[in-house]
Amino acid sequence: MPNVLEQYGYLWPRTSLQTLPNWQTIEDKRVFVRELPESLEELSLDSRWPGFFPSPICFVTTADGTQVALEKVVGASIVNRFPYVLALSFCTKELSERHHIRRAFTDMLESSGSVAVQFLPPGEELDRAMNAITSVPEEKTYSRIAYSGLSTRKALTNDAPVFDSAYMVYEAKLVKPGKDFEGQSIYSQPWVDVGSHRIYFLEINAIQLRQDIAEGRSQILWRSLPAWKPQHELQGPVLVEGDPVEDGGYKKGYTPHYAFPSAGTIAFEADAVFHGMAVKYLPPLPEDQVEVDNDRARWPCFFPSSAGMITSWSPEGYPNLMPCGSTTIVSRHPLVITPCVSYARINERYAPRVSLDIIRKTGKFGCGVPFINDVVINAIRYAGNTSLAKDSQKIARAGLEVEPNEWAPVLPALPLHFDCQVIGEVTLGTHIMFLGEVRRIQVRADVTPENPIEWCPWADVVPSK
Ligand SMILES: Cc1cc2nc3c(=O)[nH]c(=O)nc-3n(C[C@H](O)[C@H](O)[C@H](O)COP(=O)(O)O)c2cc1C
Repeated sequence: MPNVLEQYGYLWPRTSLQTLPNWQTIEDKRVFVRELPESLEELSLDSRWPGFFPSPICFVTTADGTQVALEKVVGASIVNRFPYVLALSFCTKELSERHHIRRAFTDMLESSGSVAVQFLPPGEELDRAMNAITSVPEEKTYSRIAYSGLSTRKALTNDAPVFDSAYMVYEAKLVKPGKDFEGQSIYSQPWVDVGSHRIYFLEINAIQLRQDIAEGRSQILWRSLPAWKPQHELQGPVLVEGDPVEDGGYKKGYTPHYAFPSAGTIAFEADAVFHGMAVKYLPPLPEDQVEVDNDRARWPCFFPSSAGMITSWSPEGYPNLMPCGSTTIVSRHPLVITPCVSYARINERYAPRVSLDIIRKTGKFGCGVPFINDVVINAIRYAGNTSLAKDSQKIARAGLEVEPNEWAPVLPALPLHFDCQVIGEVTLGTHIMFLGEVRRIQVRADVTPENPIEWCPWADVVPSK
């Protein structure tokens, strides 16, 4: 991790799982296991997330004509490609000091219908914005920006304040009812309530990116996977017959050391420049946004995300793995994980996934947490580009061992695994969001406070080399 990011680092776990009441040690498998959901009493004793999932943090602002508001959101995620939709989830139930209702903010969001989602480089200004959020209570969210002392201007497509020090801004508005490409109705409501949280679906209208980044003079550096060092062997033997499947189709590249812009990324195609920011406006109709070309269909700009390793058992008994960048946690109680799986037939990049059918049929999936490790990264590259329809030994050929856990395949090479029960799905236009309630967490025994998983929720911005 670069030095500048060290102070923002997050380590998990902080306490030995062996000493916590709800965790069981399974000696022969060298894992800790915890069943969920927990009761509200258990939660009130310790409301931290019971497991770790790598999530970015962003600032969100909104304005209702008279007042402005500031909040931070953990796990903001792009959930749909056409239209281009961002999901933000806010707590609507009083669970604990950490998880309390964000009503003042969400009331303003619901009345204005729009937000500016922003990223600040590590340093004093980011610290001041964070400090304003932790120091000024939610009911007074309207005074946080003034408290931060940071200068702002209005967003270009709505009234939300934008920090002058933000290097990237996503302007978005609550989605309106519409139809997907097959004529199916979507977004009868711009939000859904899931457990303790409300997920807002916001269509992106404009993206502002600092001009030096848009022009390639500076780069955003994002480490999309956590770092961790296994203390015992990574996994057991992986048995596979035959050669890797090469279908010559579109290959999505992957590295967890992401630099934007760089040779491997799309160029930011700006329509205008304001206040030193290059601006791209997104056409309002999804039909106009569609980029059929596989490369151009990529996200038009960087947005920090990680990946969930979504596993499932096919009805024929084959283990499947779908690396899923649009995976996030949306509710604390119950704990709900939401992978967004493509169902649209647009191009090779956005095509229906076998995982979609399986998860719908079985109502179950697993979610493993990948980390920076060559075996894991190579597995993401293979499994993220090869459908089970083409390779029934996909996971083995990706180089990973499978533990025959009944609920969903467990990948013992990964530090954490969540068993999830599908409690609903949301159709978003090109992707389906599965709402997966976590029923069991499995953690390798070599994930300990002395050997924790390391994660940084912020990206860095540096001059290009
Ligand atoms: C880094 C990475 C992230 C991905 N994220 C998603 C995603 O969010 N949603 C999705 O539908 N596909 C995503 N994919 C593509 C699927 O993993 C890929 O299509 C996979 O082969 C589907 O397998 P299946 O057809 O066996 O289900 C991603 C691929 C990679 C490499």
